[in-house]
Amino acid sequence: MSIQKLGVIGVGQMGSGIVQVAAQAGLTVLASDKDGSRNEKAKAKIEKGLSRLVEKGKLSDEDLKATLGRITWTTSLQDFADQDLVIEAITENPQAKEELFKQLDEICSEKTVLATNTSSISVTRLAAVTRRPNKFIGLHFFNPVPVMKLLEVIKALSTDEATYAVAKEIGEKLNKQIVTAQDSAAFIVNRTLIPFLNEAAFVLYEGVGTAEDIDQAIKLGLNHPMGPLELSDFVGLDVVLAVLDVLYREFGDVKYRACPLLRKYVEAGWLGRKTGRGFYNYA
Ligand code: 3HC
Repeated sequence: MSIQKLGVIGVGQMGSGIVQVAAQAGLTVLASDKDGSRNEKAKAKIEKGLSRLVEKGKLSDEDLKATLGRITWTTSLQDFADQDLVIEAITENPQAKEELFKQLDEICSEKTVLATNTSSISVTRLAAVTRRPNKFIGLHFFNPVPVMKLLEVIKALSTDEATYAVAKEIGEKLNKQIVTAQDSAAFIVNRTLIPFLNEAAFVLYEGVGTAEDIDQAIKLGLNHPMGPLELSDFVGLDVVLAVLDVLYREFGDVKYRACPLLRKYVEAGWLGRKTGRGFYNYA
């Protein structure tokens, strides 16, 4: 299959990044959020990101216009009938994702491959709500999508080889390096990363160090581009907590118990950069 038409549903941090790189790669992209104002925000973000590339001399004005011209914005799922591949990047909520995939399965033509950008939920479970579980796969991107090189591909139990080939093709088209993970909770990267971020929250909670010192120590001591608290704020504390809760439920192992401080911050609506406050204050 040659993927020409890509649909992306949910245009928050991850979805808008996927839309941008796909349009830059020459694909025709249909982007949708059920909330139209999020479409407007994503559109502005992509325009800003591409304009920065023009300023740096990495993209011409014509290419910027052509890239934006390849993106169509909609709030209607009905418009997705004729896509080759549809990537879901909505909120990390299993019920919401299941509901969306049931609807997409009804709307999309037989050829359409469905994919989820979930960071932790069972891809097999999501595949099973459709009548095309063989044409279903996990495509896990990383934030910021235009910068991060990795695409983690997750095969559901039911995914067939033709669908895996589509995943490889989209990875190549978007200039990402592929790593394939089995469908086990949080896959490879988040299974490793999220307990680390949680441990940093415990280190803060127990007063072992200040937020600044924890981040500085990890940056300088381990050569990480961001400290773990800064990275948690960047990813979203709600996302970090949601992944931890999935790991805890799935494996029943106390090592995945979320730090109470992290849970409290989420309850307060302190979700990190996107709300202006998390471990740090961005106001
Ligand atoms: N969109 C597009 N480009 C961006 C960007 C964005 N949001 N943020 C930064 N960039 C680009 C800059 O334009 C710059 O490009 P250039 O080298 O061509 O000039 C380059 O990235 C470096 O940016 P900066 O100099 O502004 O800033 P830094 O050097 O501090 O890098 C960073 C910023 C790339 C975000 C770096 O801090 C980093 O790699 N942080 C870690 C990110 C990470 O770990 N992401 C994974 C999170 S986990 C995840 O996503 C999974 C999920 O399921 C939870």
